[in-house]
Amino acid sequence: MKRGLFITFEGPDGSGKTTVSTAVTKQLEKDGYKVRYTREPGGSKIAELIRNLILDPENTDMDARTEALLYAASRRQHLVDKVLPALEEGITIISDRFVDSSLAYQGCGRQIGIDEVYEINLFAIENHLPDKTIFLNIDAETGLERIAKGRTYLDRLDQESIEFHERVHEGYQKVIEKYADRMIVVDASREVEEVVQQTYQIVKGLLDEAGNA
Ligand SMILES: Nc1ncnc2c1ncn2[C@@H]1O[C@H](COP(=O)(O)OP(=O)(O)OP(=O)(O)O)[C@@H](O)[C@H]1O
Ligand SMILES: [Mg+2]
Repeated sequence: MKRGLFITFEGPDGSGKTTVSTAVTKQLEKDGYKVRYTREPGGSKIAELIRNLILDPENTDMDARTEALLYAASRRQHLVDKVLPALEEGITIISDRFVDSSLAYQGCGRQIGIDEVYEINLFAIENHLPDKTIFLNIDAETGLERIAKGRTYLDRLDQESIEFHERVHEGYQKVIEKYADRMIVVDASREVEEVVQQTYQIVKGLLDEAGNA
């Protein structure tokens, strides 16, 4: 059986990852494609427990490298429990965030370094990098403004300073350059519908090209 494609969505907070990736998945399902939306920890019990530890606003004294290791651990469990079995069944996975989030948030936001964070993540994911990554590009401030409008609860990372989010944004720009061959950059500052339609066409094109109807 043909293996599913592994497609990830990345971008700063409030860039529209969840909005766009869920809309695109729904539209592709309607067209009859075998696609599944997921996000870490994605209902994997162990991955969920690890993630709760990371995001608990009470854990203000968490060390940056501890945070990076916990994300990598949660990512691996979700990969093994949810992503790999689906790909093997021929289902395309659309993942709302994956390894590049750690490169940007822990590598640059927390200033551990992209290459260091990449190394521990490679241990966690082995060779299972995304086939393609849709990068929703937007400046840090616009993203945070969108989130402030729509949300009442802020987790430990949402509460970080604007300087942290600016570093995350810079980190993502480095990641785009570094992994240019799997990155597809979409301008996410436009109207939701425009972003969804362009992204839908891109992902549909990838599936058709790979023969994953
Ligand atoms: N293109 C857009 N224009 C205006 N508002 C948008 C756009 N895309 C998403 N939004 C709104 O911005 C807010 C954040 O969107 P969303 O949750 O999809 O972003 P996200 O990238 O998943 O954020 P997070 O990183 O926090 O998970 C939501 O209220 C959403 O409705
Ligand atoms: Mg989201």
